[in-house]
Amino acid sequence: MPIWRGRAGLGADVRARHSVSPLESLASFAPADVQSRPSEVVTPAPAGGAHDDEVSRPVERRRVAGPCVARPGPSQRRRHGIVDRGRMNGDGLRHRRRRCPFTTSRPRCKWKLALTVSDRPLPEHVSVNRAHWDADAPNWVAAGEHQWRSEPSWGMWAVPIPGLLPDDMTGSVAIELGCGTAYVSAWMARRGADVVGIDNSERQLATARRLAAAHGVELTLIHGDAESVPYPDASFDFAISEYGAAIWCDPYVWIPEAFRLLRAGGTLVFLGTSTLASLCSPTDGSLPITDRLERDYFSLHRLDWRNAADEPGGIEFNMPLSRWFGLFRETGFDVIGFHEIQAPAPTPGSEAEVRFFVTAEWAHRYPSEQAWVLRKPPC
Ligand SMILES: C[S@@+](CC[C@H](N)C(=O)[O-])C[C@H]1O[C@@H](n2cnc3c(N)ncnc32)[C@H](O)[C@@H]1O
Repeated sequence: MPIWRGRAGLGADVRARHSVSPLESLASFAPADVQSRPSEVVTPAPAGGAHDDEVSRPVERRRVAGPCVARPGPSQRRRHGIVDRGRMNGDGLRHRRRRCPFTTSRPRCKWKLALTVSDRPLPEHVSVNRAHWDADAPNWVAAGEHQWRSEPSWGMWAVPIPGLLPDDMTGSVAIELGCGTAYVSAWMARRGADVVGIDNSERQLATARRLAAAHGVELTLIHGDAESVPYPDASFDFAISEYGAAIWCDPYVWIPEAFRLLRAGGTLVFLGTSTLASLCSPTDGSLPITDRLERDYFSLHRLDWRNAADEPGGIEFNMPLSRWFGLFRETGFDVIGFHEIQAPAPTPGSEAEVRFFVTAEWAHRYPSEQAWVLRKPPC
């Protein structure tokens, strides 16, 4: 059973409803000028949802910092509407010791610091996406239930990508940014991590909480914006997003926020729609994507699907590859792996099958999804 993901819920006939067996190929590479390690595998794949946009606004440069400078100055943070939790109470946090209100089961909660989130107004896209996901959450319940029962596989085509999750996460503290029904969080918890999942949609979290209780998996699930996470600097060893912050948050805000949250040496993994797939998304939002360049490359940033011809949705983000690399470098991340994901070869007759926004044939010929593995350098 495929995972239904993308900018809209179930329903449109453009979606295929049969599984595609995982397999083959991949294209992964680690840039030569950055730290590299044996390339991670990758497999086929496609992705989540891109449609027309209401056009990209000029890219704004946001928080960027050197390798061990996790936070911008206060004025920079104010300018970008970033909550300055560091001013709340001398040491930077207003906190009190109490039982964690978020944990999904009684047992021990290691998160004794209950942080008070500042009341910054939600950015427009976060507000729009909250409404979108609260409305769409019922359409993700079945997929969430399936994924909670499954072993890790990634993207629309459920391909294996070795190396995206460490086999053993014992003793590590992890966060999923835009956890949805939290099956990735469950995979990490089962590998030994203490896991926090943050999501913008209470209704998605309701499914996550129910499934965590049903499976006896302890997670700390919080309602909030992955662009402004209520945890102190260097709280996590590992951060991940599969179609969460990865596509729904502004990269110029959430990538530096993930950097701030990670300890030195920590890892960020995220997977979402490929840059090429976004480029081939018709500007009227019709589906599926085409084999033409439908929009400008260099201004690619904000993709607004609210008035899309097919399956109107929320507001997503993607960028030219050089901007992704530039943002990582300026934030301070090392690129460890970059995967262009290839869907399995379609079986005869299934070439035109559409998943979310792309045909099986397209996703086999071109990368419709991409995944990054980044590392915050050790200080
Ligand atoms: C497609 S789900 C991703 C979760 C899961 N990996 C999946 O594929 O189903 C997208 C999730 O991102 C969440 N999201 C969107 N914007 C967010 C934000 N600013 N902060 C946190 N979560 C956000 C949505 O509420 C939704 O639950």
